[in-house]
Amino acid sequence: MTDGKGRKIEYLRLSVTDKCNLRCRYCMPEEGIRHLEHKDVLSFEELQTLTGILKELGIRKIRLTGGEPLVRKGVVSLVSMLPCDVYMTTNGCRLSEHAKALREAGLLGVNISLDTLDRDTFMKLTGRDELGLVLKGIDAAKEAGLSVKLNCVPIKGVNESEIEALCAFAERISVDIRFIELMPIGCMHELTGIPTDVIIGRLGPVIAEPVGNAPDLTGPAQYYRMNGSESRIGFISPMSHRFCDACNRIRLTADGYLKTCLQYASGVDLRRLLRNGADHTTIRSAIESAIKDKPAAHDFGSDTGSDTRRMVQIGG
Ligand code: GTP
Ligand code: 5AD
Ligand code: SF4
Repeated sequence: MTDGKGRKIEYLRLSVTDKCNLRCRYCMPEEGIRHLEHKDVLSFEELQTLTGILKELGIRKIRLTGGEPLVRKGVVSLVSMLPCDVYMTTNGCRLSEHAKALREAGLLGVNISLDTLDRDTFMKLTGRDELGLVLKGIDAAKEAGLSVKLNCVPIKGVNESEIEALCAFAERISVDIRFIELMPIGCMHELTGIPTDVIIGRLGPVIAEPVGNAPDLTGPAQYYRMNGSESRIGFISPMSHRFCDACNRIRLTADGYLKTCLQYASGVDLRRLLRNGADHTTIRSAIESAIKDKPAAHDFGSDTGSDTRRMVQIGG
């Protein structure tokens, strides 16, 4: 369906848990968050009902997110229960265990966070000594036949010296890599992101011509070919180049809140409707009306109307 601004909404980011096995500083507040109780998290049957209605309304692609989606028990079977093309964004720690089964269940691809190739930096950034597992997970995902993209959030004084090395790594293993501007959603205030233009300037000749709208490259990233390579470098630039005019997505949190914009609290509590016995038509109209009211654009500079949920509770 289209929203009130004429944007076609066909992509759902489905957060299946607010728990995570890492503690990335840009994602979680230092004091942690209060986790949802099990009873408040949507069951797989509830997810099946809601995604069925969302499919009727035009959702074509679902990306499973978290927290970390692979800490949700049974997530492999959830993949096979969903009605659309299913992808996942993961920190990769549990991929070596699950990649093959995920592919067999129908998962098409994974976006894997890889902010650093240095064990100490990984530990400082995520609070855990798991870089080795993530690298194994990346291999396992490729081996299983999943499409793989790497996600890196460049941060001043943390991983900024590794931009070139991360591109070289992506090239060596023949995958795409994206650099994401740090967004002020639950991240620690002393962290400073690096604007896309600075990264592009630094990479200089590593970057060749822009890649237009290849069918596998929908979404907010702008892609370039990597010189002399099959790999592509993408830039997700919410801070310096707002891409909201072309936004095609909505989000469903693990506790069933349909969030129509990453920044704002606007949306509708579908869990409440579902558990109060609302019928199909009522839920469908509630979704349609929330999508009609989807905010025009984020404004990370201002807090007015901002959601209090942190990144880890939204799934990015
Ligand atoms: P694909 O295009 O399907 O690969 O998805 P994606 O790149 O949107 O997914 P991924 O989960 O890998 O997200 C990468 C980064 O983009 C994360 O930091 C997300 O928070 C950010 N992101 C995704 N969608 C939006 C959005 O609508 N607005 C903003 N501001 N950031 C987004
Ligand atoms: N700013 C930008 N990206 C973020 N991510 C998590 N927190 C932030 C933030 N504050 C990214 C992770 C992961 C994806 C789900 O969101 O790196 O790749
Ligand atoms: Fe966990 Fe991903 Fe957040 Fe890191 S960015 S703490 S891996 S949800």
